[in-house]
Amino acid sequence: MPELVPFLTKEEIDSKIIEVARAISEDYKDREIILIGTLKGSFIFLADLARHLTVPVKVDFIRASSYGAGTTTSGKVVITKDINFDIKGKDVMIIEDIVDTGLTLSHLIEYFKSYEPRSVKVCALLDKHERRDVEVTVDYSCHTLEEGFLVGYGLDYNEEYRNLPAIYHLKL
Ligand code: IMP
Ligand code: MG
Repeated sequence: MPELVPFLTKEEIDSKIIEVARAISEDYKDREIILIGTLKGSFIFLADLARHLTVPVKVDFIRASSYGAGTTTSGKVVITKDINFDIKGKDVMIIEDIVDTGLTLSHLIEYFKSYEPRSVKVCALLDKHERRDVEVTVDYSCHTLEEGFLVGYGLDYNEEYRNLPAIYHLKL
């Protein structure tokens, strides 16, 4: 049986989200943000973060799959569900569950920039340093970790554990 070792409690997640939402709300005062969540992992994080933002927001989702990530920096990223908004001239914020190699994120940033938005920033729940292959700037991050595989609060292992309210290290 896989073992789940507690990493962050629901309370720890919540208090950090409130802090980050406050910082974002101040930085974007009187501006509308287009929040774009990366499916599926960010759905719970986006839902909680959005409810603490005090600036106007619109919400959309994108799904990207990466192939070859981890074994090579030239891994391919394919978009399997695109956004529906026209983001030209808009302030876009990518809402990512966890940044690992950075491949997915760097691809998404370039992809969104091709539509000439006013800005593209990144807010990540977790920033994992272990396997970073591509240099990416995470503008707002809630928690960092050096290594390990996490599940819960949207994060899965083979589609399981997304519904856990807290975050755990999965030990196989
Ligand atoms: P990368 O930064 O392109 O390597 O990909 C990041 C994506 O890999 C995340 O959005 C997750 O979907 C997945 N991922 C990476 N590390 C973990 C983890 O520890 N738990 C669950 N999913 C992970
Ligand atoms: Mg993801």
